Amino acid sequence: MRTNENRRTGKGIFVMNEQQRQALAQEIEAAARRGAARDQVELVSLLRTAQAACGGVLYRDVVLEIAQALGLKVTFLEAVLKRYPSIRTDQAPHVLTVCQGQNCARGGQLADFVRRTYQVEPGGVAGAGFRFQVSGCMKHCGSGPNVKWDGQVYHQMTPEALRRLVEQGG
Ligand code: FES
Repeated sequence: MRTNENRRTGKGIFVMNEQQRQALAQEIEAAARRGAARDQVELVSLLRTAQAACGGVLYRDVVLEIAQALGLKVTFLEAVLKRYPSIRTDQAPHVLTVCQGQNCARGGQLADFVRRTYQVEPGGVAGAGFRFQVSGCMKHCGSGPNVKWDGQVYHQMTPEALRRLVEQGG
């Protein structure tokens, strides 16, 4: 396992030291013994632990190491990660959720803007470093259109404001 930095966002450099690296390797081994290869609760718990050990963003080489240790296909792990957007990876260090409730989605403007501008469909990862998803009403209709960026709600979004959010990484 190599050390990493958050190259995509340029924000914060995290370097895993030898002790942290060994501690994570032990966590992976322990999870493997507990049956994480077959038990999704254990597996997701391990992925969250690894994310924390990586400084909040799960790095690809750690995903590969986990896949190897558990005898799982990387594509399977990637599918699991897609279902848990709160586990951020270095391929998608951010999560953008565009409200598609009736009030916010009128005209479909923001979701279309994201699709066209970042060449990504809902559920996919944009090259700009975020996972794109859509949701139902976020219960802030009065101040829409709304989006969430890493779980934080942003109100009265326009395509330009959204572009700034993505460029600044939140
Ligand atoms: S429709 Fe978007 S917050 Fe209600």
